[in-house]
Amino acid sequence: MITSIRLANFKNFADETLRVGPFTVMVGANASGKSNIRDAFRFLHGIGRGYTLAEIVGGKYGAGGQIEWAGIRGGVDEIIRFNQPSLLLQVGVEDFTYTIRVGRDEDRDGAFQVKEESLKLSATRIYSTQPERGNLQSLRPGDGELLLHWDRGITPREINTYVKVRADQPGITQFQRKERAPDKHRPSTDRVIQVLGNMRFLDLNPQRMREPAFPGQTVLGDRGEYLPTVLQAICEDSQRKETLVEWMRELTPMDVRDFEFPTDPSGRVHLVFLEANDRRVSAYAASDGTLRFLAMLTVLLGPDPDGLYFFEEIDNGIHPARQWLLLELIEKQTAKRGIQVVTTTHSPDLLTMMNDETFKNTSVVSRLEDADDAIIRPVAKLPRAGELRKSQGLGNLLSGGWMEDVLAFTEGYDEEVGS
Ligand SMILES: Nc1ncnc2c1ncn2[C@@H]1O[C@H](COP(=O)(O)OP(=O)(O)O)[C@@H](O)[C@H]1O
Ligand SMILES: [Mg+2]
Repeated sequence: MITSIRLANFKNFADETLRVGPFTVMVGANASGKSNIRDAFRFLHGIGRGYTLAEIVGGKYGAGGQIEWAGIRGGVDEIIRFNQPSLLLQVGVEDFTYTIRVGRDEDRDGAFQVKEESLKLSATRIYSTQPERGNLQSLRPGDGELLLHWDRGITPREINTYVKVRADQPGITQFQRKERAPDKHRPSTDRVIQVLGNMRFLDLNPQRMREPAFPGQTVLGDRGEYLPTVLQAICEDSQRKETLVEWMRELTPMDVRDFEFPTDPSGRVHLVFLEANDRRVSAYAASDGTLRFLAMLTVLLGPDPDGLYFFEEIDNGIHPARQWLLLELIEKQTAKRGIQVVTTTHSPDLLTMMNDETFKNTSVVSRLEDADDAIIRPVAKLPRAGELRKSQGLGNLLSGGWMEDVLAFTEGYDEEVGS
């Protein structure tokens, strides 16, 4: 479970922290930086997948040239905040704090290099690129290398309390592979890698969801590919199927009663909806909103969910009157299954209908007038937010530009006091 993410000199954030809950909602004007936060999550995910910095930022291709991992938007030239030498990301994972600072190695064509890295469990250091007292202070890493130090244990006496790793890849995925690394830290590094590696970034595309799929593809693609076979697998469990159909029935006026999965001569599985009046409607004829909702249902109700799902603009294609259902689904499933969902939205209705827990985990991303940088603030912490939410509804506050107005006042005021 991720609890927070701090972005310093990352894209348009000087130094800001997003609080992350079971269900995290981000609002904010266009180009305020919401997708940049998504990029930060992707960066961390790339670390969890064991990639090098060049791969995380620039992309990774398989042997046949097919894309295994798309790089970060903007690529190498635009990931660090303009005119800054390095970026820093810090993520809270349960009681762990993982920090990484990345800059350029001027001796190597400006390639990305880890400048600083550490993993802590509460206040206790697990490893760090900074030697601490008792460690060998005079030791210097070689060119393109990084030394990861851990504290000397009392018993048994450890003599060499560092390992040497490559500086062009985050140390966390190299540390425990070193023979000399202490086994006692393995559960910690493994846990953090597992959480970071367990994220999905879904960018659903109804056209892709309509396409038939070959049997065996039971994990939904990032664009929603393989929906027919993913759904078919879920429907094999009668209880799961029942829950899924119930949610569908609530969503659509067309009243889905059942699903069918006919196979075509090439062996591909198609998706067909059986409606209440016994009419069959193929996925080709189903509405975009229905398909999007169905895809979200499969990930939230399906077996073996991933840790964290990032959905951009979750309300996209879903009628306002139905958004409460989507909200209820996410609020329920995140609370129940330990799944995390992070989303951006421009929907006032969604904001108005959210429960108190989701409200606590809603943040506004904003660029103040005349400022290039953006700030991230929990909406609940804005003056009178709770009270105004009750009297006017959070959606009205969003549409009326209240959040930006309050921030312009409070943040501007802070600066004056400080100077
Ligand atoms: N390296 C960078 N340094 C400073 N600002 C950046 C950098 N990269 C992108 N930006 C800013 O971020 C904006 C895009 O933010 P984005 O997250 O896509 O917005 P949205 O909130 O609409 O998702 C750009 O318009 C640009 O001003
Ligand atoms: Mg965006």
